Amino acid sequence: MLDRTLKIYIAGHKGMVGSAILRKFKSEKFQNIVLRTSDELDLRNQQAVQLFFEQEKPDIVVLAAAHVGGIMANIQSPAVFLYDNLMIQNNVIHFSYLNGVRKLLFLGSSCIYPRLAPQPMKEEYLLDGKVEPTNEGYAMAKIAGIKLCEMYNRQYETDYISAMPCNLFGYEDNFDSVSSHVVPALIKKYHRAKIEDLDRVEVWGTGKARRELLFVDDLADACLFLLENYHKKDFINVGMGIDVSIRELADLISCVVGYKGETIFDTTKPDGMPQKLMDVSRLSNIGWTFKTSLCCGLELTYQWYLENYNKFENNYK
Ligand SMILES: NC(=O)c1ccc[n+]([C@@H]2O[C@H](COP(=O)([O-])OP(=O)(O)OC[C@H]3O[C@@H](n4cnc5c(N)ncnc54)[C@H](OP(=O)(O)O)[C@@H]3O)[C@@H](O)[C@H]2O)c1
Repeated sequence: MLDRTLKIYIAGHKGMVGSAILRKFKSEKFQNIVLRTSDELDLRNQQAVQLFFEQEKPDIVVLAAAHVGGIMANIQSPAVFLYDNLMIQNNVIHFSYLNGVRKLLFLGSSCIYPRLAPQPMKEEYLLDGKVEPTNEGYAMAKIAGIKLCEMYNRQYETDYISAMPCNLFGYEDNFDSVSSHVVPALIKKYHRAKIEDLDRVEVWGTGKARRELLFVDDLADACLFLLENYHKKDFINVGMGIDVSIRELADLISCVVGYKGETIFDTTKPDGMPQKLMDVSRLSNIGWTFKTSLCCGLELTYQWYLENYNKFENNYK
């Protein structure tokens, strides 16, 4: 078990993932947590990161800061996604090493896998084929981050590990109409339809595509578990190991929201990849499994959305 007095730096604590990790560490009574917003410390800035590490000397680093965005942003600005993420992770990983950080957890994403990877995706499939071209810049940066951790371990005997989560949802999710992911987008759609008493809700695609979704607080639980139990090894998938079709997901969300109308699938719109499912046997073999069912996670997320409604829905009181 990690000593609760160790100094922990959580990079990206304002984001969905970083804030869940911060809640987890606080609930586990870690007493010495260091935080910086991107305004206070731009992790792309090498001098600033160097100074921060020299002054703070954290024992443990969780790297949940990244330039993250939806498909349109990735298509429009691939160079930004590649550059920003390379700079952030290079600076954080390198200055962690130079300043004696004993353990680091780097967060990647399932987009590192080849577009046509067999399902469920095993860790061994990395670099077996081309990644999805629409998020190539982001994926390349994440692959470089994994390799940087592995090579620092090999050359410098550090203990820097990488976790690859499936799609996540939960508190502090992004409910922006343009850039949100599937769960917040559907919650918002069904909620509006309920308030406006609409007969039907239209969902993009055939509803047949399958996605794996993990409640973000379970990811935070897995992160602490990995920091405590996983050492100097290859990167590891984090997920439920179970997927649902978009149709099943839409039905679940309409039920959670309490919407009574009909759901129509717009089959002229793209489905995206037919399936995205992680093989999580490496993680389950070392003793971690999810705690929050999809339905329960959706209920908690909808509750959070209602409580934070004004942040997203100024026009829908
Ligand atoms: N969301 C998902 O479904 C999902 C799935 C798999 C993996 N992940 C991974 O989880 C990590 C976090 O994702 P997220 O969804 O939590 O993203 P997010 O909500 O957009 O948060 C990103 C965080 O990164 C910080 N950040 C961005 N640029 C920075 C910079 N130049 N300097 C310092 N901090 C910077 C932001 O800080 P400020 O708020 O202070 O600006 C923010 O706190 C990413 O590595 C992502 O790949 C996410």
